[in-house]
Amino acid sequence: MAGSPWKAHGALERHSLLLLIGIVIVVAIGGLVEIVPLFYLHNTIEPVQGMRPYTPLELEGRDIYIREGCYVCHSQMIRSLRDEVERYGHYSLAAESMYDHPFQWGAHRQGPDLARVGGKYSDGWHRDHLTNPRSVVPESVMPPYRFLAETTLDYRDVADKMRTMRALGVPYTDDDIKNAVQDLRDQDDPTASPTGLHARYGKNVNIRDFAGDPGRITEMDALIAYLQMLGTLVDFSTYQADAPNNLR
Ligand code: HEC
Repeated sequence: MAGSPWKAHGALERHSLLLLIGIVIVVAIGGLVEIVPLFYLHNTIEPVQGMRPYTPLELEGRDIYIREGCYVCHSQMIRSLRDEVERYGHYSLAAESMYDHPFQWGAHRQGPDLARVGGKYSDGWHRDHLTNPRSVVPESVMPPYRFLAETTLDYRDVADKMRTMRALGVPYTDDDIKNAVQDLRDQDDPTASPTGLHARYGKNVNIRDFAGDPGRITEMDALIAYLQMLGTLVDFSTYQADAPNNLR
């Protein structure tokens, strides 16, 4: 086929160096097409109604989650595959991890995904499960964490943690940081006045004695407060994936 463009291709295929240069050019074009637009986008995360920064108690709980390596066995990222959505609920949105530094998507699933575990079980179930997983799920291979219920939560540096989160882009206000310790105590105390917490973190924030140990704030309280919030911030009964910015 004289004059056909395939002839030139024949030359490329016979010279490994030419072929290599050709591959590099094609891959570079593909890369540029994908990467360059990102430099011009202000934000790649669509805002979604309901997302708020974690309360001080949830933030402390999240730190315990990281410290204990829960992410080694648990992911927090529901993929948009049918079996995942049927098992765990709506697939995870980018906005749902936007205040997570570092994010907790995880890489392994020795246990189930936890992105929407909030509200799935009672506080008592979590307490029993974390104390001895086999007491509620006989075949479980999850390790027990009973010391969490015996360890008083050390929250002396909670305001500093919030300042650090603010430096990373979490919109904590001066008011949030000033009231951090009080808000932390109030969230674990059903007899305290919830007005400040509601004003700062919204009406839906869970306020109760999470680990069932009145008068004490333990690491168990913080961890359960964190788990019970996971996946509950966005209201998926009104969320529509194609609505402009979903801010309706
Ligand atoms: C060695 C792996 C491993 C580690 C580490 C681990 N888990 Fe698990 N987890 C599992 C397995 C397996 C299950 C499923 C069986 C069960 O429910 O106990 C599970 C189940 C759970 C469930 C119930 C989820 C559901 O939807 O039924 C929660 C909540 C949970 N783990 C929280 C935690 C927390 C919090 C930590 C860290 C303190 C943690 N896990 C650490 C393996 C692990």
